[in-house]
Amino acid sequence: QLPHHYDGKVTLAVIGGTGLYDLPNLHPVARLTISTPWGFPSGAITIAHTESGFPVAFLARHGPHHDLLPSDVPSRANIAALKSIGVKAIIAFSAVGSLQPEIKPRDFVLPTQVIDRTKGIRPSTFFEKGFVAHAMFGEPFDLQLNKLIRDAVDSNGFLDGFGNDHTPVFHTKEKTNNGEDLTIICMEGPAFSTRAESRLYRSWGGSVINMSVLPEAKLAREAEIAYQMICMSTDYDSWNESEEPVTVETVVGNLKANSTNACKLAAHLIDAIATHPVELGKDLEGTMKFAVSTNPN
Ligand code: ADE
Repeated sequence: QLPHHYDGKVTLAVIGGTGLYDLPNLHPVARLTISTPWGFPSGAITIAHTESGFPVAFLARHGPHHDLLPSDVPSRANIAALKSIGVKAIIAFSAVGSLQPEIKPRDFVLPTQVIDRTKGIRPSTFFEKGFVAHAMFGEPFDLQLNKLIRDAVDSNGFLDGFGNDHTPVFHTKEKTNNGEDLTIICMEGPAFSTRAESRLYRSWGGSVINMSVLPEAKLAREAEIAYQMICMSTDYDSWNESEEPVTVETVVGNLKANSTNACKLAAHLIDAIATHPVELGKDLEGTMKFAVSTNPN
């Protein structure tokens, strides 16, 4: 039984997606049940410490037993709860389908752009009831956090192929995509895409696809929290006729096979951030003040 309160400061959070339900390399010290004006988060938030005592907040996006549909994830409560405990930066993990042959199942991808294919049914702003605000979202991920992650990951040899013929690659705009953006398509689901949709997304320049980056990334921006998603590729979606279209079995099979790498990667990044002097999220502080367009008079 862990205490339900934590008195220290927690600046870094990890949101776990399908296949990442805790941080096994860290020591849990508290489990917080937080109520927000937008309801309860997906589950309790675990505070865990690294060996050196650096605290990290962990939240499982789909709930501890994965019983939340992507459309039903309480993203406003999740982001508000993390904000309420002082979080300044979020590293969010997600399983994704690959839209490009070179992004192989079990590879990791650090996206830099997003295309919104959700259906407008997910509450995606904190500003309502008489307030209108337009957050800057041209650069949807935090560039400082993105660079910190890139610097921390040595794609040559850090990830383990576990004796398979394919050692996972960590795809970045800079190293593996000729400086071109890596674009994540966010679809509504819960059914996967048709082949025609999957091909449409490829023609748009999509790199990977999931059901989770929005509205999470938008809400983090409104909350002035630095946010970067790390994607783990689990399938080739439905575009490739020489592959079976994606099924849950393929997704879960690859996730299970690679969850050790996901945990290793998370622990490695947390250690890098714990020892890094940069104040994450600093450049976002106060930005929303200039995004409110409602006339105060
Ligand atoms: N999550 C994992 N694989 C996916 C896919 N092909 N489409 C949407 N979300 C996914």
